Amino acid sequence: MTFNTIYRAMPLRFLTDTLELRPIELADLADLVQLANNKQLHDVLARMPHPYTSEDGLYFINDIANGTDERVWAICQRNGPMMGVVGIHLRDGNPEIGYWLGAEHWGQGIGSQAIGALMDEFDIAVPDLELYARCLKSNLASKALLEKVGFEVTGEGASNDKPGETVWTFTRPARDDIYEQEAAE
Ligand SMILES: CC(C)(COP(=O)(O)OP(=O)(O)OC[C@H]1O[C@@H](n2cnc3c(N)ncnc32)[C@H](O)[C@@H]1OP(=O)(O)O)[C@@H](O)C(=O)NCCC(=O)NCCS
Repeated sequence: MTFNTIYRAMPLRFLTDTLELRPIELADLADLVQLANNKQLHDVLARMPHPYTSEDGLYFINDIANGTDERVWAICQRNGPMMGVVGIHLRDGNPEIGYWLGAEHWGQGIGSQAIGALMDEFDIAVPDLELYARCLKSNLASKALLEKVGFEVTGEGASNDKPGETVWTFTRPARDDIYEQEAAE
């Protein structure tokens, strides 16, 4: 599989009840840096530098968010500034989701709403693909969110990025496989 399939099938932007998920632009740089420059995020994310500088933000916007190896969305209130980021990329040939919100937005249901809506879009765009995620075993909010949107723990191992930490691997079955299983029951 190439990432092209997912890249082309997923919408550039979409709405939830109260949120908008849209492409990240250069105009988001100041908000991105303000949100991302947080040691708590660095501690739970594999690829978040700390301190987080304007150069880090520019690299993310130009080379990652607007490249073709990942599909990335800013999580925003409708017509509001960005509050966080969610993206899908390929890891070892498998699609994997990653996400974060600025700390002031945690625990208000925003993650559930945004990632839940993204899963709905994923099921429509690529119903035949499994999706993967990873999170530190200690990250209870992320685990709860993943289970809420249909992932289950399918593996466990030592973290490569965070010494001494354990990482859970999560898998979300392809929508087509769920339908097939339901039809067989
Ligand atoms: C993980 C994250 C995106 C979750 O988004 P959120 O908007 O804070 O989460 P929600 O408010 O939608 O809550 C999702 C679930 O997590 C639970 N939860 C939220 N904060 C929690 C916490 N600190 N401890 C345990 N559970 C928590 C909620 O109760 C909810 O579960 P429920 O609906 O079964 O009650 C957000 O907390 C975050 O950005 N954290 C830092 C970055 C990160 O961990 N990214 C993921 C790396 S794998």
